[in-house]
Amino acid sequence: MKLLNTVRRVLLLHHKQIQAKFFSSAADFNTVNNSQCEQEYGHTPVMPAEIIKALNPQDNQIFIDMTFGAGGHSRQLLKAASIKLYCLDRDPYAYEKAIKLADEYGKKVTPLLGKFSEMQSLLTKHGVKPNSVDGILIDVGCSSMQMDSSERGFSLSKNGPLDMRMDGKRYPDQPTAADVLNTLDVPSLVKIFKAYGEEKRALKIAQALFDARYMLRTINTTHELADLVQSTLGSEQRFDKLKRTSHVATKVFQALRIFE
Ligand SMILES: C[S@@+](CC[C@H](N)C(=O)[O-])C[C@H]1O[C@@H](n2cnc3c(N)ncnc32)[C@H](O)[C@@H]1O
Repeated sequence: MKLLNTVRRVLLLHHKQIQAKFFSSAADFNTVNNSQCEQEYGHTPVMPAEIIKALNPQDNQIFIDMTFGAGGHSRQLLKAASIKLYCLDRDPYAYEKAIKLADEYGKKVTPLLGKFSEMQSLLTKHGVKPNSVDGILIDVGCSSMQMDSSERGFSLSKNGPLDMRMDGKRYPDQPTAADVLNTLDVPSLVKIFKAYGEEKRALKIAQALFDARYMLRTINTTHELADLVQSTLGSEQRFDKLKRTSHVATKVFQALRIFE
């Protein structure tokens, strides 16, 4: 991205491992804690203190929050200094929240609706000059707003339509996760489960999904998918990296969320 060639600080958070990669000099952290954020914003943005330390916003600087979500990190940045902040998200519900933030902060906040690939043209449209951005925050994954809403179909624990589109409201014709499962062939499903979920029983699960079609059984809800994976893998026990029991369909859900 030419416009961003000389950004001084890019902070990339990876939810799954809760670790941050700093392409800048990160110092010691310890100023804002998570429970404080929870009380203020109704959800917990990850690593708030680390973000402020690493990006170190100063008055009159320009930042981009490329994954606005519910805006927890954006609010942290805005509180830390008098900055200009561009708030990007592909999810129209997140964009609505960014508009509300702009109502509070006026010209300091510019909401942007779009994908990462659209960012350069959106910034150009808003007159952002090359080499003018001081820092970027990327907090990849699903937002709590997306995961907590059963009708969006992201979460294994909440029954709802198997949708998983981050911008389904913007592109209603885009295939849902149910469309993917009910139409792709076995090798394509295996690729998705392996590449994005590291699912070691990918072939068995893909074959079961394919066979279900011959029994006129389409998979349309999150719980139907979870049940099918469970019945396919039988009594297999799984644990996450923290040794907690995890549902056998967790990796399939992860793979579909990333693929979507
Ligand atoms: C983990 S959440 C961010 C949470 C946010 N930091 C907060 O404090 O609320 C990730 C956000 O990135 C958005 N997102 C994911 N992929 C995207 C993409 N390719 N382009 C733009 N936004 C994306 C999602 O819609 C989601 O709202």
